[in-house]
Formats: sequence, C-alpha cells, structure tokens
Amino acid sequence: TEALKAVAIDGPAGAGKSTVAREVARRLNYLYIDTGAMYRALAWWALRQDVGCEPVALTALAEAAEIRLVATDEGTRVWIHGHDVTEAIRSPEVSQHVSQVAAVAGVRAPMVRLQQQMAAQGCVVMDGRDIGTRVLPMAQVKIFLTASIEERALRRYRELCARGVPVELAALQQEIEARDQADSSRATDPLRQADDAVVIDTTGMGLEQVIEAVLATVRRKVGDHGA
Ligand code: CDP
Ligand code: CDP
Repeated sequence: TEALKAVAIDGPAGAGKSTVAREVARRLNYLYIDTGAMYRALAWWALRQDVGCEPVALTALAEAAEIRLVATDEGTRVWIHGHDVTEAIRSPEVSQHVSQVAAVAGVRAPMVRLQQQMAAQGCVVMDGRDIGTRVLPMAQVKIFLTASIEERALRRYRELCARGVPVELAALQQEIEARDQADSSRATDPLRQADDAVVIDTTGMGLEQVIEAVLATVRRKVGDHGA
C-alpha cells in the first residue's frame, strides 16, 4: 500500500492559497482541506452566540463545535452545528473577527486535532497558516505562497466585487494587513514559513502559472504519477 501524501500550503491572506490548493487537489485527485474555513466557521458561531473574545468561553465553544467540510462539485461546503455557513463565513464581519478567535490556544488545539484526523483519511492538500509548521510537520511538500500586499488586496477586491459584496479597496487592504499582523504575531502557531518550505512569490503571476509551479514542486518532491 502507498503511504499517504500531504501537500501543505501556507501564506498570508489573499495569496491564492485556497484557489490554488483546490485546483491542485483536483488535478492530483487528493482531498482538499480548507483550514481557514474552520476558523471562520468558529468565528461566525462565536458572533452568533455573542461570546466575545474571552479565551475560556471561546475554548469551550471550539471544543464543542461540530464542524463539517463537505466536498461537492462546486467546492467545499462548510457546516457548523447544522448550519450551512459557506457564504456567511466570507462576510467582512467574520473576516474582522476571525484572527482574534484563531489566536486562542484552546481554540487551536481541537482544530489542529480535527485537521490531523482529516489528513489521516487520504492524500490531502491542506491550506492555512500553520500547516507546514504545526498541523502536518511531516508533509512531503510544503509551499509558502505569498504576493505583495497591494496585489493581494486587489485580488480579494475583485473577488468580492464579482460576488456583489460592496467593499472599498483601501479598507480591504487595511483589514488584510491587520489580519496578517495578528496572525504573524500571535503566541501559538503564528503564520510563518517552515524552514523546509518552497516559497512562491505570486506577484504578477496568473492562477494557472501558480498552479503549474505548485504541481512542479509536488513532482519534484514526491515524483507523483499524473501530477
Ligand atoms: O482566505 P483568507 O486568507 O482570507 O483567510 P482564511 O484562510 O480563510 O483564514 C482566516 C483566518 O483564520 C486567518 O486570518 C487566521 O486568523 C485563521 N487561520 C489560522 O489561524 N490558522 C489556519 N491554519 C488557517 C486560518
Ligand atoms: O486563500 P487565500 O486567501 O490565500 O487566497 P484566495 O482566496 O485563493 O485568492 C484570492 C483571490 O485571488 C481569488 O479570487 C483568486 O481567484 C485570485 N487569484 C488571482 O487572481 N491570481 C492568483 N495568482 C491567485 C489568486
């Protein structure tokens, strides 16, 4: 039997992680796991329950959370406690709140455990902030995707405009910078490049070009058939 393989993709907000990870997983026939969606679902639930930022309360919430990622032809659908929150977790309100929730050590522990259990189910592409450093330190392939802050803000801006969500570019850039800052400076498993990660700066690169670069890295590291 073949060993399970894992591709870990980390990086700051708007770098293209989830779009690229989803497509790479599809082409490799691996399972795609969006860990950011799990923290977003928790943040959505915390807002709804009016829990605030109290670590003990957030920890209890995370430990009891029933989160499910359901793969469909149109992408992953995200559920928490029986609510389909796939669209709701992309709201500006959740984006502004999520880093505070994700900074709590007691919130991260059950999420990391769940993510590790998911990765044990098959070959996976998993994206987030601490996949290469914490969740899957033994991953065969680690990628750190990044791009200039201006380009990342612009990408997210175009995406939200296309979905009819009213946003302002400057405000969006500020939100992304604040989130990157919070994610990089938190005590528990901050966003950082793993020592053995391959860095891809995607500034000025189109999606297909990035996907090809990631697949080339996978081929180089695991010599994957069909990759
Ligand atoms: O897609 P975007 O880059 O906007 O963010 P995301 O991947 O959906 O993640 C949302 C937030 O969840 C991040 O800003 C982090 O605060 C947190 N997160 C985390 O702490 N660890 C992960 N492995 C994934 C996300
Ligand atoms: O998951 P993360 O926050 O890192 O980024 P994303 O949500 O996958 O990508 C943000 C937006 O940038 C999406 O609309 C992608 O289609 C777009 N994108 C792009 O235009 N060019 C790239 N090279 C990568 C992503």
